[in-house]
Amino acid sequence: MERYASRKMDYLPANFYNLKADLKELPPPPLNPMTREPLKPEELEPVFPKGFIEQEISLERTIPIPQEVREVYALYRPTPLIYAQNLVKELSTPAKIFYKYEGVSPTGSHKSNTALMQAYLAAKEGVETLTTETGAGQWGSALAHAGAIFGIKVKVFMVRASYRQKPGRRIMMELFGAEVAESPSPLTQSGFRFYQENPNHPGSLGIAISEAVELAVKNSKTKYSLGSVLDSVLMHQSIIGLEAEIQMKEAGAFPDVVVGCVGGGSNFAGLAFPFIRHRLEGQKIVFIAVEPEACPSITKGELRYDHGDTAGLTPLLYMHTLGMNFVPPPIHAGGLRYHGMAPLVSHLVSKGIIEARTYSQEKVFEAARFFFKTEGILPAPESSHAVAAVIDEAIKAREEGKEKVILFNLSGHGFLDIAAFDHNRC
Ligand SMILES: Cc1ncc(COP(=O)(O)O)c(C=O)c1O
Repeated sequence: MERYASRKMDYLPANFYNLKADLKELPPPPLNPMTREPLKPEELEPVFPKGFIEQEISLERTIPIPQEVREVYALYRPTPLIYAQNLVKELSTPAKIFYKYEGVSPTGSHKSNTALMQAYLAAKEGVETLTTETGAGQWGSALAHAGAIFGIKVKVFMVRASYRQKPGRRIMMELFGAEVAESPSPLTQSGFRFYQENPNHPGSLGIAISEAVELAVKNSKTKYSLGSVLDSVLMHQSIIGLEAEIQMKEAGAFPDVVVGCVGGGSNFAGLAFPFIRHRLEGQKIVFIAVEPEACPSITKGELRYDHGDTAGLTPLLYMHTLGMNFVPPPIHAGGLRYHGMAPLVSHLVSKGIIEARTYSQEKVFEAARFFFKTEGILPAPESSHAVAAVIDEAIKAREEGKEKVILFNLSGHGFLDIAAFDHNRC
């Protein structure tokens, strides 16, 4: 088995793939939080750029990737598809393990795939500032980079727990020219409520989203950008799976099992959705979404309408949720500390197409260390959740004597999270 599939430029997709076009039944629509009626696209205009809203509601199977965005993607895409030779050897498993490595992007994760597209759409409409939230800082730094490329100011509300654990990410965002505030902050009404109660409040993605949305709604030249959850964000990430499909073909393999970690669901969906197409056509593929024990939105949450944020400013989304007021403990995988789940991922869970699992932080870090020693890449704490499930699947294959092909998304590297791997800190 070759270690790497090739990274030919013609493997870079010309279009995003929109799974909605292939679903017989769509998830229940987002609702206006005031009227509880299905949301009209124009009601989103105070928050998002129009071009983004068009993509969010589109039912076209393919959406062209603009040339300007493809040129920036070419900086790091196609990303490598790697055969995990040493991991397979160390586990003495008959399974064949492949991973799509998104850590080669400029800021080290898959988040650039949608950040670049969103900043491009905003710039095209003359938006001056994009606001956003960030958990671990991966999304914030991806948007900060995209803003620098397309000439847009970026304001990031960074969840306090991560802001304090991960100064490297803040520095990176500031180097790209973004402004970064610790959330909950005193800068917005939504943040002040929590900040006043406790200036050391650890924060949550839900609160940080409220702060970022509030600023966007208050200024017509400012829009909000979300790094996960929404249909269009998942669609931007489909380039991961589309590339993986061609690269796997080159490697002469097709996945039996597809694995990814889930915070809001975007990296998992990005890899999985192009393969779910085949499952809908009758191919047998298992899809495993992995979440932290500390924030088990799918496995312990309810499937119902809920707000995407804590202040209740966002539309109501039909999704797995732990409740908009849920504040997860400050685990190292800051990007997985989200109370909800992408409606499309939730829908596919409810249809039995995706299954979900949880892992404890201890188990996740143990898996990450093992992966680092064998494959030489330190996975981000978020991505390490996928690694933990892959190791279990590979051991199961050994016990069952089955030669399955496992494909997973190594959504980011953990070199800026290295302090978290210090023995005493997890
Ligand atoms: C490296 C990495 N992987 C995964 C995630 C989780 O987000 P999502 O479920 O949208 O991929 C994050 C979020 O910050 C991340 O930084």
